[in-house]
Amino acid sequence: MFHAVELKTDDQIRTMRRAGLVTRAALEAARAACVPGATTADVDAAGARVIEEAGATSNFKGYHGYPATLCVSVNEVVVHGIPDDRVLGVGDMVSIDGGAIVDGLHGDSALTVFVGGEEAADPAHVRLSRTTEEIMWAGIAAMATGKRVGDIGAAIEDRAVELAPDLGLIEDFTGHGIGTQMHMDPEVLNYRAKKMGPKLKPGMCLCIEPMLVAGDIDTKTLDDDWTVVTVDGSRASHWEHAVARHAGGIWVLTSPDGGAERLAPYGVVPVPLD
Ligand code: MF3
Ligand code: CO
Repeated sequence: MFHAVELKTDDQIRTMRRAGLVTRAALEAARAACVPGATTADVDAAGARVIEEAGATSNFKGYHGYPATLCVSVNEVVVHGIPDDRVLGVGDMVSIDGGAIVDGLHGDSALTVFVGGEEAADPAHVRLSRTTEEIMWAGIAAMATGKRVGDIGAAIEDRAVELAPDLGLIEDFTGHGIGTQMHMDPEVLNYRAKKMGPKLKPGMCLCIEPMLVAGDIDTKTLDDDWTVVTVDGSRASHWEHAVARHAGGIWVLTSPDGGAERLAPYGVVPVPLD
């Protein structure tokens, strides 16, 4: 079935930038709350406070009945971990995913953080997270240089194979279009596929969100109907940004610098709208 991709005006992209920056601020507050002894509910509360204080609303809360503002996914949880009274300890790796709505337009972003800092963590886990982040940037760069949405997944897979053929690239979850809703067409695969998808056009806003695991890529959903874990119990990392392509280039909506620093190695210079 064909669905038209929502193309945003420059003004809508400016509003999405505001939603992206509220999302960013919420994630940074949640990151700072990931200290030993904190619960995942504390992490959620830290992010929720920022969204509320900004006068924005959470797009996760109530989404298909989702009960929290953030997804807080610890260790073997790949995505959609529900915040609860689980206590965080040094060495835990926590993927935090969240989003805010500003004036009807959505932000959505995720990062992985280490409780007690990277220095205290297993270097293999740090590499897992850093590699996931890097393949996300490779996908974002392909949104600037590519012709079709499928170029993004191809770039993510190529970079994963190049950097870490031993890590597992999750196929059960994808990125997505974003705008007047959090999840919109097109689907943004995290791997190379025959179907290249729609052409990349000015006005397209996409969430690029790969996940890597240390072991096998099989996942399962727990009885709470949300929490996705690796079947083999290996650890996972998830990183995500929302990105706009406009007439002048791309801008990473959920990154304070539009992605400039991390896109430079790919030869991509993000272009702001004003
Ligand atoms: N934000 C997730 C994604 O990156 C989706 C979360 S669904 C929710 O696409 F219900 F947990 F909010
Ligand atoms: Co998303």
